[in-house]
This record gives sequence, C-alpha cells and structure tokens, in this order.
Amino acid sequence: MSQFSAQQSIGEIVAMMPKAGDVFRKYRIDFCCGGHRPLAEAIREQGLDEQEVLKALDDMYEETKKTTSRTDFLNISSSDLIDYVVNKHHAYLKTNLPIVSELTTTILRVHGPHHMELFDVHKQFHALKTELEQHLIKEEELLFPLIKQHDAEPSDELIEKINKVMKETEDEHVSAGDILKELRRITKEYEIPAGVCPTFEKTYHMLQEVEADLFQHIHLENNILFRRYAR
Ligand SMILES: [Fe+2]
Ligand SMILES: [Fe+2]
Repeated sequence: MSQFSAQQSIGEIVAMMPKAGDVFRKYRIDFCCGGHRPLAEAIREQGLDEQEVLKALDDMYEETKKTTSRTDFLNISSSDLIDYVVNKHHAYLKTNLPIVSELTTTILRVHGPHHMELFDVHKQFHALKTELEQHLIKEEELLFPLIKQHDAEPSDELIEKINKVMKETEDEHVSAGDILKELRRITKEYEIPAGVCPTFEKTYHMLQEVEADLFQHIHLENNILFRRYAR
C-alpha cells in the first residue's frame, strides 16, 4: 500500500515529505504554483503512469526515512518558518543572483554570436532577478512583519491586510515560475552545446540550481505559510 494517494494535493505531499519535490521535478510536475491541484490531475495532464509516480514517491519516502531528522515544516510556528525561509532561501538568492548575473553576462559576451539564445537567457534571467529582488523586499519588509504581528495579536484587520499583500506575492510567484519555464524552453532543458567553455556549463548548472531552490522556497510559502492565513 502506498504512503501517498493521487487524490492528495501536490502541495500536501511535498509538505509531508519535502524530498517529494525531487520526484515532481523529475516528472515535470509543478509543485510550487500548481501545488493546490490533486496529484491525479497533474499525472493525467502530463500523460504519466500513476502507479509509477506513486512508487517513485514511496521509494523516496523509504530513502528519507533512513536519513537523519528533517525540519517538520507543517508543525513549526509561522515565525520560525519565516525565519527559516529568510535565512535559507532569501539568503541563497541574495548571494547567488549577482553571481549568475555576472555569469550570464560573461557567456553572452563570449558565446552570444554563435549561440543567439544567450541574448534571451540574459534578458529573461535579469527580468527574474529584478522581480525577485523586489519580491524579497515586499516579503521581508511588509508581508512577514504583518504575519508576525498577527500571530502576536490576531485581528480581522490584519488578516485583511495580509491577504491583500499575499495575493500580490502569489501572483509574483506565478510570474517567476513562468520565467523559469521560459528559460527551460530557450535553453532546451539546459542542454550544454558541444565545444563551449566551463563557464557556460557552470552558468547553466547554476540556473538550474536557482530553479530548484526557488521551487522549494515558493512551495514553503504558497503551500504551507500562506495557507494558514488565506481567507
Ligand atoms: Fe520568499
Ligand atoms: Fe515569495
């Protein structure tokens, strides 16, 4: 018997087992912005085999059971969850967005004339960078303080304010997800062309790392944190 059911929402499964994100990434199942949908729906849409996906989730479950303890995101306070997201995922972006910015600029200069798609990679990445920089500020300076204030002293007025900002930040997550999809399309799933330099390879590798980190980050916000306050 499987630990999981295709009737569960995708977000619920990732909340139960964060490593499920790795399985969903492998099967191209969107678990951050499409997290509210039942797994069965995504399986149908992608033309996947339900038993195979459930088996992959079960295998991952067995594997993670063996490894050391992990943070139980479903049961930690919002304040701790916010601190975790800021210290891990926001810090990751603040360190790495400038690095990837430089890398995409370097490979555009060196390889752009022979790989015209790099003009688009550069443009899309910088659109993502600008959007995310503002987004992090909105969360850190506006949304997260409102949530912490609400938890200290709950009120309908605060819930209303939180929902208004949350709607914007959720839309921004969708927009970031769209850019990431576009980057995958432009780069043919980050396929490294023959004969390019190690910097090219490193850039594509880091773009994928940004994508993976962002998926987990948006998942924690959309499917766990925001749901506690959504009205
Ligand atoms: Fe965030
Ligand atoms: Fe966010």
